[in-house]
Amino acid sequence: MSLIFSLILPPFAEYPSLQLQPWMYGLPQTTFYSNDGPDNVEVSQVVDTLVNNPGFGTRCMDGNPIPMLPCSSSGSDWFTPPVDQSVSDIFLNGNWSMSNPSPSCQCSTPKRTTMLPDCPPGAGGLPPPQRIQNTTDTLEDLTGRNMSDFLLKTFEQSGKTRYGGVSVGGVNSQVRLTEADIEVVFRDLRDLLGSSQDNVTDELLQKSESLLKKLGTRDNVKVWFYNQAWHGVVSFLAVANNAILRGNLAAGEDPRQYGISVSNHPLNLTKSQLSFVALATTSNDVVVSICVIFAMSFIPASFVLFLIQERVNKAKHLQFVSGVNPAVYWLANFAWDMCNYIVPCLIVIAIFLAFQQKAYVSPPNLPALILLLILYGWSITPMMYPASFIFSVPSTAYVVLTCINLFIGINGSVATFFMELYDDDSVSRINDIVKQVLLIFPHFCLGRGLIDMAKNQAMATLFSSFGEDRFEDPLSWDMVGKNLCAMSIQGVVMFAITILIQYKFFCKPRLISGKSLSAEEEDIDVARERERVYEGRAQNDLLKIRDLTKVYSRKSTPAVDRLCVGVPAAECFGLLGINGAGKTTTFKMLTGDIPVSGGEAVLNGYSIRTEMSEVHQNMGYCPQFDALDDLLTGREHLEFYGRLRGVPEPEVAMVAEWGIQKLGLVKYSNKSAGTYSGGNKRKLSTAIALIGCPPVIFLDEPTTGMDPKARRFLWDCILSVIREGRSVILTSHSMEECEALCTRMAIMVNGRFKCLGSIQHLKSRFGDGYTVIVRVGGSPPALKPVEDFVLQTFSGSVLKEKHHNTLQYQLPYTQGALASIFSQFTIHQQRLGVEDYSVSQTTLDQVFVNFARHQHIEEEAEGYDNPVDTSDEKPLSSRKISQEAEKV
Ligand SMILES: Nc1ncnc2c1ncn2[C@@H]1O[C@H](COP(=O)(O)OP(=O)(O)OP(=O)(O)O)[C@@H](O)[C@H]1O
Ligand SMILES: [Mg+2]
Repeated sequence: MSLIFSLILPPFAEYPSLQLQPWMYGLPQTTFYSNDGPDNVEVSQVVDTLVNNPGFGTRCMDGNPIPMLPCSSSGSDWFTPPVDQSVSDIFLNGNWSMSNPSPSCQCSTPKRTTMLPDCPPGAGGLPPPQRIQNTTDTLEDLTGRNMSDFLLKTFEQSGKTRYGGVSVGGVNSQVRLTEADIEVVFRDLRDLLGSSQDNVTDELLQKSESLLKKLGTRDNVKVWFYNQAWHGVVSFLAVANNAILRGNLAAGEDPRQYGISVSNHPLNLTKSQLSFVALATTSNDVVVSICVIFAMSFIPASFVLFLIQERVNKAKHLQFVSGVNPAVYWLANFAWDMCNYIVPCLIVIAIFLAFQQKAYVSPPNLPALILLLILYGWSITPMMYPASFIFSVPSTAYVVLTCINLFIGINGSVATFFMELYDDDSVSRINDIVKQVLLIFPHFCLGRGLIDMAKNQAMATLFSSFGEDRFEDPLSWDMVGKNLCAMSIQGVVMFAITILIQYKFFCKPRLISGKSLSAEEEDIDVARERERVYEGRAQNDLLKIRDLTKVYSRKSTPAVDRLCVGVPAAECFGLLGINGAGKTTTFKMLTGDIPVSGGEAVLNGYSIRTEMSEVHQNMGYCPQFDALDDLLTGREHLEFYGRLRGVPEPEVAMVAEWGIQKLGLVKYSNKSAGTYSGGNKRKLSTAIALIGCPPVIFLDEPTTGMDPKARRFLWDCILSVIREGRSVILTSHSMEECEALCTRMAIMVNGRFKCLGSIQHLKSRFGDGYTVIVRVGGSPPALKPVEDFVLQTFSGSVLKEKHHNTLQYQLPYTQGALASIFSQFTIHQQRLGVEDYSVSQTTLDQVFVNFARHQHIEEEAEGYDNPVDTSDEKPLSSRKISQEAEKV
């Protein structure tokens, strides 16, 4: 658009000449004349040519010499406009003289300010005789009037159409010495010289006297002009000179044949003026360069959108876990972004070529333009990358980055350009410094480079008319060379900074000492496991965690508190705990998503603190929240991660198919993941974790949202993984799942293990004993004898529920209790009329609930990435309280 508008701009040329005549100020005008020497024949001749034939100036001469301003034939006769009776009365009754010819106007007073004098009716006198000339102007005859009075007092009505007039034949009122005075002086002089006078002196005195008399005191032509019209004085002087010329023609000559036209020829510009003009004409190109910066501000900002999304939904982390090297990740992004950038870049160049703007596309300029645009992409793209670590909402990042780009690009280029227009040494010095400093921004390098190229071309074009070659090589250092150099360096530096940020070079995690953490009593099993890890008996385990701790910044309590556990090969280790217990945090530390605050973990012999890339190669990870790319299909996901895991290319498709079959995704394999239901997303995430047969697999609530069939599929899958001798670390809120899969499990509360061991072990240690359900026959059922029997036989029994014919008891766990329950009921079944009875062990759920009440509720509610709202969780009442409640 700006290039289209720049086409309308007239090219720079020397100023043209201008013919000076009154009508340059518009048509029709009001002009005036006065004949101040009516008795003088010469004066009358001049007035006649001025008023009648051919009139003012050269316009009505033979052949209408003024282009576009022909003489019209519609003149009128003299007339006097009628006036109101009240106005004519003023002049009939008043005592008016030449020095006081009409009512006075009121000028500004200290109390009242007016722009123009306030004139009463009749100010300036009665309207003068006038007529319409064949120039279409109104000519007023002011002969015999006080002209100053008339012109001043009627300015408000006709000032803007009255640019001048001519008085002919007057005596110059400005000359102090009158003719009489001159005569007196010369008489005195002759008397003084007296007898010594000779002929020569006498003649000299005579001539001097007549010279002085003639020196402008009589038969003046006076030119009146309006001083706001710059050429008014010259135009009306030309009118007067024309009249004088024609008034003094020899008899018989046609005055319409004679005239003087006046033209103004501006001087050619000097070289220094030309340079300034060249600079000013490039303001058009400043607009073009602003438009380019404007367009080029949006493109790089859009590159970070995807990066932010990948970081926030953890897809980036998952890629790292799957074996992508962070440097390769950024290089790939950069290569792709540059490919994307080249498209708009080519479009810009094509537009410039289409408009054939010499400043940008002439053979010497084109390479500079191409280099500027390409290096801009090279430098601005990595400059946007660090923002992907700061923002969490892509749209916010886009708006903020675009605004910053626009601000720096436009303000930098425009400010330095306008500072250049100032002809002031100190401003230029400051400008030079500003121009050097702003080179650190690619936006400025591009914008300023385009302006410099345009300026260079404008100078060269102007000076070529002097035969001088002022064209500088656009690629030279002082032109865009320094900009190109700055941008190439910026690209490298910003890319390096991005990589350093990715490797957390600038923020080394601070390790905290174990002593600062809580020193609660530990469960015996947990203490034993800790001991085992400390003493090195877990050396051969696939995963060994030792004192692993995480304290989030701005949190007083640790999210994970000195965990110690060893997971041997072929084990499925279950991690239970209520929401916010620290399970995901543990996984995040183990997978390198967040830095460790303390402790150490070794996975298959590699430390998570120092050898993360090797650790990644030995683990599969299914994060709690699906880290999927909405646009890839399920199959593409599996193929992509298969390749990352190093699956040989011919087998990639097979591996993807295996994942699809295994998790039951056949129907959805070719649909984009964005359209998947929650359960299907979980399946895909789990399949990704399983790909590549890693020795240790971390599954964070893999079955949440899965239907029972898919869940059983997955269980089979996990069991087969264990059978292969690999290990699985699993978190789940389903006790059924843990019972089905886990060889060992631990319950986490407040970041610590509260218990650890096999399912049976936990049930027996922490279970509440047995639940007995008795159904009594008869109608109505005789419950009382049964109740008495249980109360007497089993001490510590608690009646939990009582319905029509059913009784539910809670019996404590004691040695041999199970056998005793069965034998007692078998013996007395007939007598008591018991139809049937069942005995079951307390479920894992009950064990879990007992621990859950220990979880403390965080007092300070702070915002973070993955908030867990625990406000609606009530700690479950203790067993004793519930027993009492039952009794009541
Ligand atoms: N980014 C974070 N910044 C600060 N605190 C956090 C952050 N993420 C988690 N937390 C806190 O750390 C604790 C453990 O959170 P975590 O996500 O590990 O729990 P979880 O056991 O996985 O819970 P869930 O069963 O709900 O997934 C919680 O108290 C939580 O509030
Ligand atoms: Mg979690």
